[in-house]
Amino acid sequence: QQEQTFVMVKPDGVRRGLIGSIVARFEQKGFALAAIELLQIDRELAEQHYGELRQKPFFGELVDYLTSGPVCAMVWQGEHAVENARALIGKTNPVEAAPGTIRGDYAMDIAGNIVHGSDSAASAAREIGLFFGKHAAAQRMDPY
Ligand code: CMP
Repeated sequence: QQEQTFVMVKPDGVRRGLIGSIVARFEQKGFALAAIELLQIDRELAEQHYGELRQKPFFGELVDYLTSGPVCAMVWQGEHAVENARALIGKTNPVEAAPGTIRGDYAMDIAGNIVHGSDSAASAAREIGLFFGKHAAAQRMDPY
């Protein structure tokens, strides 16, 4: 079933020049790009985005990291987009992420894991609203 998911290349991914490689992997997998924006996010948006993690000891560090430079926010569409994106991205901790996944191939450390992907359809809807709001994501045809 067609759905959309939110994916974000984090500041270290942008700094390292990985946007193109990450976009290519999503296109090659069969996703259709529905929205993309390079933006510098403020602390308020970072705190809202990671609101569920507010009580975690690493929350401050996470917000510092996310606001340390521009991020590339994207909406990708396709069959089971949320789960397919999570499989492509790999486990949260790059130590556990399989080679062939984005984190498995490009990241070493959980605090700098290069890319974020929504963990459920409900999170995807919330995150797409936070980042794109009134600039609604395009509805794309299935590319195949
Ligand atoms: P992400 O998939 O964006 O969702 C939550 C983020 O919290 C996660 O990726 C990591 O970047 C970060 N995170 C999770 N656990 C830790 C940790 N133990 N230390 C620092 N950051 C963490």
